[in-house]
Amino acid sequence: MAQTIPSSRSCKSFKNRSMSIVLAKILLALIFLLSISKGSDGQFEDYCIADEQASEYDLLGAMNWACSNGANCTAIQESQPCYLPNTPKDHASYAFNSYYQNMKHQGGGCYFTATAVLTGADPSHDSCKFEYIP
Ligand SMILES: *[C@@H]1O[C@H](CO)[C@@H](O)[C@H](O)[C@H]1NC(C)=O
Repeated sequence: MAQTIPSSRSCKSFKNRSMSIVLAKILLALIFLLSISKGSDGQFEDYCIADEQASEYDLLGAMNWACSNGANCTAIQESQPCYLPNTPKDHASYAFNSYYQNMKHQGGGCYFTATAVLTGADPSHDSCKFEYIP
């Protein structure tokens, strides 16, 4: 570092550039770590919902699996608060989130054969409350 190199100018600008690349990489790594740790500290809420791209057939299959493997699907039954709108996407979203919140601390994920995605936006509507467990 203390060495003086005659043409230190080009060397310095090269150093600055590689330094900012390093800083950018550190920043990206931090953003990545923050995005995967959200929810675990209760600071960011995360909900598991149906992927817009998933087919209704796949959503119904995954929803049935979720409802018999840890999700509480009472709220999407007829006359319950999350029955309407009665669509595969809405019912699957409720079931996926219920499963995810109940199981996330025991290794349960938000995957459902690629029919589910995580979101930071609370999907609750009217009297239909999507649960969030820190
Ligand atoms: C399932 O959810 C309903 C409300 O939607 C609640 O009344 C019931 O106690 C829940 N059951 C379990 C086992 O948590």
